[in-house]
Amino acid sequence: MSGCACSEHAVPPALERVEVVANDRVASGVGLVVLHAPRTAETVRSGQFVHVRLAHGTSFILRRPFSVHRVRGERIEILYQVLGTGTRTLAEREAGDEMDLIGPLGHGWEIPPGIAHALLVAGGLGVAPLGMLAEELAARGVAVTVATGAPNKERLLVRDLFEGVARRVEIATDDGSCGTRGFVTGVCENLLADEALDVVYTCGPESMQRIVAAQAAGAGVPCQVSLERLMACGIGACLSCVVRTSQGLKRACVDGPVFDAAVVLWDLTEIPAKQ
Ligand SMILES: Cc1cc2nc3c(=O)[nH]c(=O)nc-3n(C[C@H](O)[C@H](O)[C@H](O)COP(=O)(O)OP(=O)(O)OC[C@H]3O[C@@H](n4cnc5c(N)ncnc54)[C@H](O)[C@@H]3O)c2cc1C
Ligand code: FES
Repeated sequence: MSGCACSEHAVPPALERVEVVANDRVASGVGLVVLHAPRTAETVRSGQFVHVRLAHGTSFILRRPFSVHRVRGERIEILYQVLGTGTRTLAEREAGDEMDLIGPLGHGWEIPPGIAHALLVAGGLGVAPLGMLAEELAARGVAVTVATGAPNKERLLVRDLFEGVARRVEIATDDGSCGTRGFVTGVCENLLADEALDVVYTCGPESMQRIVAAQAAGAGVPCQVSLERLMACGIGACLSCVVRTSQGLKRACVDGPVFDAAVVLWDLTEIPAKQ
């Protein structure tokens, strides 16, 4: 299994040659690739990501960042949405194909000591970095409640994983084909009112995470968000991934992608409070 969950014991990233074990379509435009990646599997912490060189050639000079969704022995799983050249190429990869990645990268989820109950709020592909976290929390005896949202039942992801480890799973779909009709933020608001929660973890569209962060702040519950930025280097050198915070500009690849929601300045016009 993965290494210690505290940030001080995060293991430095390394280049690893990996082999595709399986690559399956799990929903429309979404795949799950399983990679034999013993070093990453051993060292990754939930919420961290890997930077993958998907092929050779000019379109692939820049690696693509993907969260580690789950770890199984010497294998890691990546849940991916097909968007452009890189992810289309990833979808074509077959068992036995080789790639290389750099990882584990970034600052993952923090699990505060002594917590009893965590709420995980996912929107769409935002489930990707929350799978490993849900398993880790459950293994540590923390009660897990999940709120997960999708456009419709067919695009609802990793429901089985969440139902296997969580005490309660609430679903929202835009069209009402599964669970509550509407956005996952509506479900989140109700759970924050219903449940005694120690921490909220969220990933999904930034507009959704911003609302979840505000709801958690209103309920007095600490919240961690996982922010996506375009990433060129992945190691803190190029500044392509800047996040504005009340503590100054941060790099999502090394200071994040997980941030304390309380420090994130969501609005470009938001002025940092004087320290
Ligand atoms: C820390 C981190 C973790 C991520 N984890 C996952 C994951 O687990 N699963 C997953 O499917 N995707 C994840 N992403 C997003 C993923 O990296 C991009 O979707 C991917 O790089 C797109 O590559 P492409 O060549 O297919 O698309 P491109 O042709 O490069 O772009 C297609 C579209 O995707 C947008 N895009 C490209 N790169 C990013 C990016 N880094 N963030 C946001 N939008 C982007 C482009 O602006 C464009 O609109 C993550 C991104 C970050 C920063
Ligand atoms: S991706 Fe280069 S600094 Fe973050």
